[in-house]
Amino acid sequence: MRAGPVHEVRIHNGPLIIGGGLAGLSAALEAVPVEGMSQGALVVTPAPLLDACSSAWAQGGMAAALTAQDSAELHARDTEGAGAGLVEPDVARALTLRGRETVEWLAELGAPFDRDAAGGFAVSLEAAHSMARVARVGGDGAGRAILSAVVEAARAADHIEIWEDGRLRALLQDVTGRVRGAVIERAGGRLVEVRAHSVVLATGGVGGLFEVTTNPSALKGEGMALAYAVGAEVLDPEFVQFHPTAIDVGLDPAPLATEALRGEGARLVDRSGAFLIGAAADADLAARDIVARAVHEARTSGRGAYLDARAAVGEHFAEEFPAVFAACMAAGIDPRVQPIPVAAAVHYHMGGIAADDAGRTGVAGLYAVGECAATGVHGANRLASNSLLEAGAFGRRAGRLAAHDGAAGEAALRPVAVGDDLPAEAMARLRAAMTRYCGVVRDEAGLLTLCDLIEEMAEAYPAALSVQAARLIAEGALARRESRGGHYRADYPQTEAVGQHTRARRAVAVAA
Ligand code: SIN
Repeated sequence: MRAGPVHEVRIHNGPLIIGGGLAGLSAALEAVPVEGMSQGALVVTPAPLLDACSSAWAQGGMAAALTAQDSAELHARDTEGAGAGLVEPDVARALTLRGRETVEWLAELGAPFDRDAAGGFAVSLEAAHSMARVARVGGDGAGRAILSAVVEAARAADHIEIWEDGRLRALLQDVTGRVRGAVIERAGGRLVEVRAHSVVLATGGVGGLFEVTTNPSALKGEGMALAYAVGAEVLDPEFVQFHPTAIDVGLDPAPLATEALRGEGARLVDRSGAFLIGAAADADLAARDIVARAVHEARTSGRGAYLDARAAVGEHFAEEFPAVFAACMAAGIDPRVQPIPVAAAVHYHMGGIAADDAGRTGVAGLYAVGECAATGVHGANRLASNSLLEAGAFGRRAGRLAAHDGAAGEAALRPVAVGDDLPAEAMARLRAAMTRYCGVVRDEAGLLTLCDLIEEMAEAYPAALSVQAARLIAEGALARRESRGGHYRADYPQTEAVGQHTRARRAVAVAA
């Protein structure tokens, strides 16, 4: 890593929260000052709030047991079923039990959830849910509407300070190994050493490491790379979820055509109009990995893959799915009368920094929440619309804990190496290789080629955090000699009877 000259030191008497999506801001809202202990949260994001975070792009909504026929138990069972043997049942229950209270908390903050005739939350069906349970906003506008309410609350809160120009470059550790803050690069390349009680990572996913993604491409797993560098465990990094219906019009990132369209009856077909998966009415609502592989296969075999919403949605498209409609029309596709070309795209990282349901990692002073965390809720395959729930529910818990964790005071810090970006041309090569060799279908020969490229890049660009994140994913994929959930190995198509986690941890010396 490059040794960076730090230009400024800032002492923050409270938690430092990295990331301004739903998880980070939920933590910040709950990190209220504690008399004599903390002054509240400092939130750092690389871009203005609402830009460049995946939460704002979510179309589906928030999964929660909100109807009389549903329950937290049923929701937890569906979550486990989708996760392909690697969901931690207690954590899934801890999540689903907080479903209603999280939706209500957001509604109180002003999130304008769709309502039914009786004033309850209107819910819709998404893949692998046994019943309709996704609370939505304005059809496909949930992420932006929910996050807008949270952003407004965060901006109004006296206990939250927000920097909207800061990139995480390193974590600071004291001599015992406790995380005590971070090095943040602000506008103009100014490096600020922020000494804080604790750090909450809410840095999002890894879509930007791949060529085709529905995530903001700035998200490259840098939080995961830095957590690993300070000795946190990284769990199941190979589990990347591919969404089957990114709109395939050559855009980076690729706009999403929400799964709710298939919930409404839209069908996946090839160029000739034949069903991709089967004629049964619910065939296209199979688990996301199955549908993503069918789309991938149809495209690579030349049959093409399309989402045909003409019969199921047709004339109502603009009112029911305004965001998808706008994306299609901007690309010259009228989804009322034309099938939408689709591709599988990186959409969510199930693996990441091992953390519990309150964001605690194994490293003192370090929390991880939202997509960068692997809490055991998603296993090998996330159930649709569980991510916003996890971000809100566990983010809030982490904020409450972090507000009480740590104390101001001078601590001797370890020397720090400051991370950096990969040059644009090398980044493009890495993204292409990740998609080609570590995409929907993987095998040993491809993964070995990828690992060689990553090794070369790590030597040439030792400070590049994206290379270190890519290495964790590629090595995890190589080590998992089976297919499970989002990880499919053409050379090991079987699923082992008992699922095992992949765990990566760097040995970091810890003084007493
Ligand atoms: C979608 O709307 O299809 C995405 C929902 C999710 O990924 O949870």
